[in-house]
Amino acid sequence: MQEKISFILKEAELFVPKSLAEVEDFRIKMLGKKGLVSVLFDDFKNVDAEQKRALGKPLNELKNTVQNIIADWQNNEALSTKVETENDIDFSMPADPLQLGSRHPLSIVRKQIIDIFSRIGFVVSEGPEIEDDWHNFSALNFPEDHPARDMQDTFFIDKDIALRTHTSSVQVRIMETQKPPIRIIMPGRVYRNEAISARAHCQFHQVEGLYIAKQVSFADLKQTLLYFAKEMFGDGTNIRLRPSYFPFTEPSAEVDITCHICSGKGCNICKHSGWVEILGCGMVDPSVLKNCGINPEEYSGFAFGMGIERITMLKYKINDLRHFFENDVRFLEQFKSAF
Ligand code: PHE
Repeated sequence: MQEKISFILKEAELFVPKSLAEVEDFRIKMLGKKGLVSVLFDDFKNVDAEQKRALGKPLNELKNTVQNIIADWQNNEALSTKVETENDIDFSMPADPLQLGSRHPLSIVRKQIIDIFSRIGFVVSEGPEIEDDWHNFSALNFPEDHPARDMQDTFFIDKDIALRTHTSSVQVRIMETQKPPIRIIMPGRVYRNEAISARAHCQFHQVEGLYIAKQVSFADLKQTLLYFAKEMFGDGTNIRLRPSYFPFTEPSAEVDITCHICSGKGCNICKHSGWVEILGCGMVDPSVLKNCGINPEEYSGFAFGMGIERITMLKYKINDLRHFFENDVRFLEQFKSAF
């Protein structure tokens, strides 16, 4: 036992901690319930009377010395003010990974669309999502009994107030307040009272474009859209225009692009036709210009409108519209590398 006493004493005298935490560990190692010193006291109970006489004093001295050494270290100023130093930091440890979010695919594509049109001089304009009848319908030539005004399609808030059903309402607001030439792109959320399915939703996003100036022609519209299609879907993309109808444009057309998935050869996405529809467009009807205070004798213009969801689904081969609104991280994380 004498040997053990000297051994523990040496260890205590040689102890040099780097932090207060190490002092505490050492205290437990020595004086804790099962600590080296405590265990010696337990052993001491079992030795014979003669040994007790011989060992009592050195054992008590050991305990006092160890206690003093620990107390000294506990009060050591250098330790208590010490912050982590170079020696305590392992620079080879890999850093904690930064949790970066990813942009929503609709935001990615909206930004791409805006970038493409801003390169040819279009600037962004925005308008309210809660709209009056005039800006959403009447100024755009929708007749009183047009089905789009029906409760089936439109979320009415009041008799005259509704959630906008398209971004064309922003055209009206801009034409009412700005003088031509006007060259704007209008991204925004729109609402329609539709049952939610893989192909329809009660809320979605559109980008509307409007160009009003002197002598704007249908050829300008076509060339603008061809430029857009090639920038968005690749250089080899072609477009075709099919006659269509919108109350606020005349003539009107729907625009298809060559299916970029099968390069026009025919696949499921293009229903084996080689073409997929991407937007509606037309020359702004002269009566709409008049409604907005622009002289149709002096100015003409074109407008187009596309669904951001549709463009995104084509670009990224997404087959269900509902993915966009469910915020499933497994879906969203796939767009981490996109800008
Ligand atoms: N507003 C039309 C729609 O929501 C799209 C469109 C915009 C068509 C501009 C022609 C011109 O379907």
